[in-house]
Amino acid sequence: MKKVITYGVFDFFHFGHLRLLKNIKTYFNEDIFLTVFVQDSDYILKYKPNTTILYSTQDRIEMIKELRCVDDAQVYKIVSEHIKTIDFDVWVKGPDQNHSGFKIAEQYCVSNNKEIVILPRTKLISSTYIKELLKSLKK
Ligand code: CTP
Repeated sequence: MKKVITYGVFDFFHFGHLRLLKNIKTYFNEDIFLTVFVQDSDYILKYKPNTTILYSTQDRIEMIKELRCVDDAQVYKIVSEHIKTIDFDVWVKGPDQNHSGFKIAEQYCVSNNKEIVILPRTKLISSTYIKELLKSLKK
């Protein structure tokens, strides 16, 4: 069975997140084992101290683990380091996941014969959008 992974923050869990995870299961014409890696809140706050996090790392993991389309969810901190420590066949990523850490992780996949699949984002929804909307409602 193919071991498939994906990375993300998955805060303010929304329809775009759900669609991505459902689409991963249907993208492959075979049974897969999908592990979702959820970024650690403390680590996020270290590099983005002004950001708002709604759900703790454990809360986000708990919610994602309950989804029928997900087999396991675990925490990660730095994608470029974490990806070297795990056993997997395919990394499914979003087109927005292209900062330097993701680029290094991609290089690791290319050098180690790991498949990369890029799935499109769902339009008009993001955690950033929800945060902005909530801020505007407070005014
Ligand atoms: N994603 C998606 N469609 C969206 C939003 C996110 O497919 N509308 C995917 C991303 O491409 C990524 C995963 O969901 O593979 C987790 O992304 P995350 O960074 O948690 O989501 P965003 O909602 O985009 O958060 P932000 O606005 O903070 O970037």
